[in-house]
Amino acid sequence: MRRLVGLAAAVTVLASATWFASAESPDSSRRFASGTSLETGARAQASSATFLFRGARSCAAAACHGDPDASRLPSEAWRRSFLTWVEDDPHSQSHRSLESPEGLAMMERLRILVGGRMHDRRGYANCVACHDPTPPPIQRRQSYFVGDGVGCEHCHGPADAWISRHYTAGWDRDSLAELGMTRTHELPVRAALCADCHVGGPGREVNHDMLAAGHPPLRFEFAAFLDRLPKHWDENRERIVHENFELQTWLAGQAASAEASLRLLEARAARAGVGDAAWPEFAEYDCVACHHDLTPNGWRPNRDSDRTPATLSWGTWHFPLFERLTAASDDPAASPVNALRDAMASSLLPDPAVVQEHAEAARMSHRRRKGWPALSQTSYRWCPANPIFPFSFRGLRHG
Ligand code: HEC
Ligand code: HEC
Ligand code: HEC
Ligand code: HEC
Repeated sequence: MRRLVGLAAAVTVLASATWFASAESPDSSRRFASGTSLETGARAQASSATFLFRGARSCAAAACHGDPDASRLPSEAWRRSFLTWVEDDPHSQSHRSLESPEGLAMMERLRILVGGRMHDRRGYANCVACHDPTPPPIQRRQSYFVGDGVGCEHCHGPADAWISRHYTAGWDRDSLAELGMTRTHELPVRAALCADCHVGGPGREVNHDMLAAGHPPLRFEFAAFLDRLPKHWDENRERIVHENFELQTWLAGQAASAEASLRLLEARAARAGVGDAAWPEFAEYDCVACHHDLTPNGWRPNRDSDRTPATLSWGTWHFPLFERLTAASDDPAASPVNALRDAMASSLLPDPAVVQEHAEAARMSHRRRKGWPALSQTSYRWCPANPIFPFSFRGLRHG
């Protein structure tokens, strides 16, 4: 169970000798994905691809985030962050899920594996993009361990440039953000970060083929998921810092989930007709539109609904209140999400170009909305997504 605890102890001994004493300047250790140095690259244009990952184990020293003293106060949770993650956090197990009997069976059904051998690397890259998002070799240090799952840096940002600064006197989040630290203390940023994997997006997605192969549907609700995450930070302080914490997390979650799901729909529409990409993507629709029994006295044929029979309803999970929250006037019908909903339900084969256009309009309109949590200017998109695009899914519908 205590998978990495021994390792944490070992790292403790090494820590002071290695990166505490490291005189390496963060700037010289920072590299651009293109291979150019910081001096030749424009600092202002430094993008998410420019910082190196160290791996979760770099945080494990007992003097850092691996303090084994379990009697610490909640205000000192940060001292045990690493152990909380290893012992209780589902993210440290996310790579293992791929190799669990369920994960392996799923991959066989999707023909990612055939007889236990890799058959579809692109399909696998999609699983990894959420379960073990591995930066390309040029973007990671040797200490980075592939297989540790969703680690510290996938949420906090690649640490190479800030790791030796964030315990020195006078550090603050703003200056570290410039060195690649994600602003996880800002709720809209945090919600968008979680939604990247828990809703999905271009380069990482759970589609209907995967659902049919047994993947749990992603039914993300930020406030609830955040609540369920074992806290490796001081939760009490958060509730003091953020007035109406529950309301704010709920709102940030609605905005981020809707935005992520619109972005995903846009990407799905954009690749319709490319290769064997599926369109329309069944995972976008109400599951019971198709999955229900046809007995005359069943609940469904008699349900109270103004929907035209034999049409598919779209967006039932992330958009229950979205129209109301984003409508420019009091009339929810004026929301661009409604136009998108109509486009998706207009036919069993909606026009992907029209869908793409409406999805983008809906996304932009909600960004412009006053009072709606705005994403921070700082990028949170550190998590490497599947670089190979579009995927080829060889699932149920593609033989
Ligand atoms: C890099 C992708 C990624 C990010 C970012 C991410 N997660 Fe996860 N999360 C996962 C994966 C993958 C799992 C499934 C773990 C497993 O295999 O059991 C998971 C599991 C969970 C679970 C357990 C779900 C269950 O059904 O038991 C919770 C709760 C959770 N995440 C909350 C969050 C929150 C809150 C955030 C943002 C602060 C977040 N996650 C950010 C990928 C991610
Ligand atoms: C878009 C991100 C994403 C992608 C892509 C993805 N997963 Fe997941 N997976 C998750 C999340 C999040 C969970 C946790 C379920 C939840 O939301 O409660 C999960 C759960 C699972 C579980 C169940 C874990 C458990 O302990 O119950 C398995 C097994 C799994 N995924 C395997 C796979 C495989 C195999 C692939 C590729 C074919 C894959 N996943 C692709 C995000 C993803
Ligand atoms: C699923 C996303 C996620 C993962 C994985 C994760 N964290 Fe965090 N972490 C958060 C969030 C959200 C917060 C609370 C917001 C904040 O203070 O930034 C936080 C807070 C912290 C804090 C407290 C910061 C403060 O100012 O009080 C520390 C320290 C920390 N994390 C370290 C780690 C370490 C070390 C790891 C890896 C072992 C890790 N985190 C893994 C999301 C994550
Ligand atoms: C447009 C119609 C449609 C929609 C919407 C749809 N599905 Fe399906 N689903 C199908 C078809 C067709 C099959 C293949 C059935 C078969 O093989 O007998 C299937 C198969 C499945 C299977 C495999 C079941 C089995 O017995 O093999 C699962 C699980 C599944 N769908 C889940 C979902 C979920 C979850 C949703 C909602 C996110 C959803 N489906 C939405 C049409 C749909």
